[in-house]
Amino acid sequence: MAYRKKIVAGNWKMNKSATEARVLVADILMEIKKFDASDIVICPPFTSLAAISELINEVPNIRLGAQNLHQQSNGAFTGEISAGMLRDLYCRYVIVGHSERRQYYKETDELIKEKAKAALDANLKPIVCIGETLAEREANDWKKVITRQVDNGIAGIDEKQIEDLIIAYEPVWAIGTGKNATPEQAQEVHHFIRGLIAKHYSSAIASKIRIQYGGSVKPDNAKQLLHQPDIDGALVGGASLDARAFAAIVLASRH
Ligand code: PGA
Repeated sequence: MAYRKKIVAGNWKMNKSATEARVLVADILMEIKKFDASDIVICPPFTSLAAISELINEVPNIRLGAQNLHQQSNGAFTGEISAGMLRDLYCRYVIVGHSERRQYYKETDELIKEKAKAALDANLKPIVCIGETLAEREANDWKKVITRQVDNGIAGIDEKQIEDLIIAYEPVWAIGTGKNATPEQAQEVHHFIRGLIAKHYSSAIASKIRIQYGGSVKPDNAKQLLHQPDIDGALVGGASLDARAFAAIVLASRH
């Protein structure tokens, strides 16, 4: 089996001014500078990227990520930010297709694929979010939903680039609810997703793709989730706003 380095990303969502972000990052650095076994990504709002970029510039295992991007490289798209602009601020990652963007901004699988391609073309690693809603889970439709999201939102991306893409499985019913998927439930879906990637690409590629779990990851459930065979890291919302909690999750991700 291919070795997959764990990746823990903090999605701050629309929280923290640039001033507050500097304080939180300083706290995170104090807490986690000792750990280097996992990739760590901090995804603040756009307005804090420059400030954080300066603070983590010299720290080898922490990288900067954005929470969204526009699919075009430039042009008359008021209020939007391109992949090149993010690269210029030393971003290495970008979250694409988070369920909040799918829900509130009507992002479709097709648009998400365009955004993921734009990110890859600019040498950014996209973290592409997929996951079913509560109604879909209760109707036992999760396989159908995940298959559609992978078929339309990921498959078709160039084989040469696909290994730089990270998938985040985030069941919508687990996001911000305090109700995480059980490790077994999450493992089942992750294994299924890896199978879809194998079908579209190859089993060699599928064994290299990293699949994060997201949805109410906390210090007390992180270890069990992160030690499932197909779970390669976590996308953390609420708990990433607390330096100690985030550090504890990073620690739990160690092999
Ligand atoms: P949560 O958010 O950890 O607060 O549930 C996860 C996410 O939205 O990525």
